[in-house]
Amino acid sequence: MTVVVTGGAGYIGAHVVRLLAARGERVVVVDDLSSGRAERVGDARLEVMDLAADVAVDRLAALLVEVGAHAVVHLAARKRVDESLTRPTWYYRQNVGGTANVLEAMHQAEVPALVFSSSAAVYGAAGAGLVTEDSPTSPMNPYGETKLAGEWLVRDAARAWGMRCLSLRYFNVAGAGWDDLHDPAALNLVPLVLGRIRAGLPPLVFGADHPTTDGTCIRDYVHVLDLAEAHVAALDHVAPPDGGSGDHAEVLNVGTGVGSSVLEVIGAFASAIGSPVVPEVLGRRAGDPPQVVASVDRAADVLGWRAARDLADIVQSTVAAELAAR
Ligand code: WQD
Repeated sequence: MTVVVTGGAGYIGAHVVRLLAARGERVVVVDDLSSGRAERVGDARLEVMDLAADVAVDRLAALLVEVGAHAVVHLAARKRVDESLTRPTWYYRQNVGGTANVLEAMHQAEVPALVFSSSAAVYGAAGAGLVTEDSPTSPMNPYGETKLAGEWLVRDAARAWGMRCLSLRYFNVAGAGWDDLHDPAALNLVPLVLGRIRAGLPPLVFGADHPTTDGTCIRDYVHVLDLAEAHVAALDHVAPPDGGSGDHAEVLNVGTGVGSSVLEVIGAFASAIGSPVVPEVLGRRAGDPPQVVASVDRAADVLGWRAARDLADIVQSTVAAELAAR
């Protein structure tokens, strides 16, 4: 199978590319290298392209035809919530416009299968229980809105043009499947905690007065290698060897089903490095829901996929990758 991976030079995309290559698939990466890095893609062909540009439809369609693509994994996107609040139109152009361009190029090139990178950010403030794919979607920022609009576009294109598509709603992705694919620059809890520890500073806790067991926010941390495996399973679902039949568009949560508090994440680092870590508690961060944890049964039913790794694996792989980079 020939697979075009947009955003394949990024942290998550590079894990998908490496797994697909290891399985013997032919992989072509499309990335604008704005945050991606060419050295992450290994032997895969890399086409540097801004997917939101007007010329992207024709350029991508020509590439899809040239390589004989069977499927696209579309991960290329802007993903900073704070930036999406100050640059809303740019986020819509990049994420929604980029996705529209990818779908049009696929239609032109007659590529029938897509795996789309979505986010738990589509849910906004989740309630106390597990979040299912049928829970209400109510994004709290333009980033989440662009992902929800992307899902709608994908569904509509699947209907109009008979494509088979899956949108994967990622929960909190962290860890490293290979040391060189680690992303120490990510502005998320796991890399930030390690950065503070290595700088001799206390990790920061944004609020210890939330309505949770220990007062800190609970999230569903999923290992990036589990997430990459979910993409491979999703590809097999939308692009089976016989090509599949009929249009198909579905959304699936990709998490573990297990919630961890901020203090539990910090505790996992203390265990991994073998010394105590004393955090500093600050006030709540604006717009932080107390708990967001995935129901993962639908992904298990549809894909036969479940996360195999836990928080300790995530933290240990993060520490190992940081040590390897020294
Ligand atoms: C996790 C928890 C913080 C840093 C965001 C996006 C989401 C998705 C993933 C995708 C929260 C707390 C954090 C720190 C802390 N983006 N925290 N101290 O907010 O759950 O999700 O990233 O591309 O769309 O919203 O992730 O890692 O920022 O925070 O206490 O130094 O850790 O308050 O409860 P979040 P996060």
